[in-house]
Amino acid sequence: MAALKEKRNCGQRCEDFGRFVWNSDEGKLLGRTPEKWVYISLYYVAFYVVMTSLFCLAIWTLMYTLDPYAPDYQDRLKSPGVMVWPDTYGEEIVEISYNTSDKSSWMKMTNILNEFLEPYNDTKQLECNKHNCTRGKYFIQDTFSAPNHTKWACPFTQSMLGACSGHEDPTFGYNCTMPCVIIKMNRIISFLPSNNTEHPAYVNCTVLEGQHNVDKIEYFPEGGSMDLSYFPYYGRLAQPTYINPLVAVRFSLVNGKKAKIQCRVVSKIISYENYHDPYEGKVIFQLEAVK
Ligand SMILES: *[C@@H]1O[C@H](CO)[C@@H](O)[C@H](O)[C@H]1NC(C)=O
Ligand SMILES: *[C@@H]1O[C@H](CO)[C@@H](O)[C@H](O)[C@H]1NC(C)=O
Ligand SMILES: *[C@@H]1O[C@H](CO)[C@@H](O)[C@H](O)[C@H]1NC(C)=O
Ligand SMILES: *[C@@H]1O[C@H](CO)[C@@H](O)[C@H](O)[C@H]1NC(C)=O
Ligand SMILES: *[C@@H]1O[C@H](CO)[C@@H](O)[C@H](O)[C@H]1NC(C)=O
Ligand SMILES: *[C@@H]1O[C@H](CO)[C@@H](O)[C@H](O)[C@H]1NC(C)=O
Ligand SMILES: *[C@@H]1O[C@H](CO)[C@@H](O)[C@H](O)[C@H]1NC(C)=O
Repeated sequence: MAALKEKRNCGQRCEDFGRFVWNSDEGKLLGRTPEKWVYISLYYVAFYVVMTSLFCLAIWTLMYTLDPYAPDYQDRLKSPGVMVWPDTYGEEIVEISYNTSDKSSWMKMTNILNEFLEPYNDTKQLECNKHNCTRGKYFIQDTFSAPNHTKWACPFTQSMLGACSGHEDPTFGYNCTMPCVIIKMNRIISFLPSNNTEHPAYVNCTVLEGQHNVDKIEYFPEGGSMDLSYFPYYGRLAQPTYINPLVAVRFSLVNGKKAKIQCRVVSKIISYENYHDPYEGKVIFQLEAVK
């Protein structure tokens, strides 16, 4: 009942509040003397300055000890993923299907390939990757001897893809039943695709379904191999002009018949049977040419 009796009207409450903001009897502002307020402010300013400097120091120490040329986090060195171009996806896998007598249907494929190969343009490559690379050996670089504190990268030109370079045949074989596809292995920093006593890694394509619908499989460069001089990759900062080596594969198809192909990068240390990552070490796609 005491609480009820103490119930005060609005005017009294405002008065109370006014007294709280400025109490002239005791010289208190918001319940504290101005002097106390100064002390408290100073205390908090000092507190936040110390906290901020500690935080900055921690970040700076972390940045200072990180090597900008090495990845900060790298999973257990796993096998690289493999991709195919033209990358025209069907429902699940890449489905490269075209009509040789319908120009727009095969131009779609050749446009994808031309665009993909732009960085491999011969003049471009020979301009930005001038280094003379020794074929058949890993290009190990312990120093940053290329300009601007970088490392050299070996040129890979479009013409290395021979009949699939798009030079002699700008249609890449899509105006007939001999389409070229391009296989690329993703880069992994410091990854060596085979050990020094082995041959370089190479691409091997096999027909999974429709064996009789593929007459011939040809590889460019010869043997479908990825020369050792393109490895290891040192990262974007160290090797800004690096370019993945490619392998082109030309299939001679039987008109109007489908074939399911698996292209695998073969090396003892590249696994390809990872159930959780179907693109690890291999790529599966479907080919079909109709007239
Ligand atoms: C291929 O294209 C030609 C010309 O456009 C057309 O007549 C033919 O029916 C097409 N073939 C198939 C299987 O779609
Ligand atoms: C490379 O690019 C230049 C100009 O950008 C072009 O003239 C030339 O035809 C291209 N070369 C090839 C092989 O595509
Ligand atoms: C690369 O090697 C060739 C043949 O050995 C030589 O003619 C050329 O000058 C060399 N280029 C560079 C940039 O060292
Ligand atoms: C090195 O860097 C400077 C400035 O970023 C640039 O102008 C120059 O072209 C670079 N040199 C080479 C060889 O890339
Ligand atoms: C396909 O194109 C190439 C190069 O342009 C040409 O030599 C060849 O005769 C063409 N094939 C067909 C079937 O049109
Ligand atoms: C390198 O390859 C050879 C031949 O396959 C093999 O006997 C050897 O154990 C491999 N070495 C390493 C370090 O993987
Ligand atoms: C490619 O793979 C097939 C099937 O696994 C195998 O029979 C063939 O010998 C392989 N070719 C090469 C060159 O390794």
